[in-house]
Amino acid sequence: MDTKLTPILREMAIEDLEQVSLVEQEAFNTSWTTTTYIYNVNRYSTTHLGVIELPELPPYRHPRPERLQVLPPYDESLSIGAIVAYGSMWIRNGEGHISQLAVHPSHRGQRLGELMLVGLLAKAMACHARFSALEVRVSNVVAQALYMKYGYRRAEVLPKYYSDNHEDAYLMKTSTLNEKYWLAFRENVLKLAHSITFKDQFSGLRLDLLQ
Ligand SMILES: CC(C)(COP(=O)(O)OP(=O)(O)OC[C@H]1O[C@@H](n2cnc3c(N)ncnc32)[C@H](O)[C@@H]1OP(=O)(O)O)[C@@H](O)C(=O)NCCC(=O)NCCS
Repeated sequence: MDTKLTPILREMAIEDLEQVSLVEQEAFNTSWTTTTYIYNVNRYSTTHLGVIELPELPPYRHPRPERLQVLPPYDESLSIGAIVAYGSMWIRNGEGHISQLAVHPSHRGQRLGELMLVGLLAKAMACHARFSALEVRVSNVVAQALYMKYGYRRAEVLPKYYSDNHEDAYLMKTSTLNEKYWLAFRENVLKLAHSITFKDQFSGLRLDLLQ
């Protein structure tokens, strides 16, 4: 990554939707709308939505912003940079369930997916979740490698879980998010902080100050 770029991990705001929607479209061929955002925030009071912003880059613009059903209209004067990754997680009954995670294709392989996951896991620990879980396509070996690095293991196969092509999912789970997990997690975060400089305004644990 360009060393002048400092990723900021922060809470998602409604003004980010246009760009989040673009990242999602590139990653999954679907698009976040205002409705999705409001649904997530209202349905699960414990949903955490995060983004990674590169403040030095201009924001991406959606080619069809009218599809986002944005209410109220975007405030153009808000100085947001490029949103290059986003993630979401709900916490219920001690489980930190990661429901979304994606990086814009032009910024993959630069540790931003790892940073987003680390932010969500740290948030889960800050909220005293007992473990974390997620579903992933059996064909998505890249995401599985990332998840395994952070202690997720295949717990179950969910047959025909995805409605678009009836692909199976793996349900992946971490072990208990206890002291032992934290030590291994911290080790990974220190390595991450060695390879990229970032600001953490999301997790509540200030991972950028860990060392
Ligand atoms: C999965 C995804 C989030 C990874 O983000 P990324 O920023 O490209 O990945 P990072 O640079 O942070 O890499 C972190 C780890 O991911 C894994 N990884 C990343 N790219 C990989 C590749 N090309 N092949 C294998 N593993 C890879 C590795 O474990 C890597 O850690 P390591 O280098 O120490 O081995 C990204 O590829 C993406 O957005 N994919 C499309 C959406 C998606 O599949 N989301 C997950 C849905 S469950």
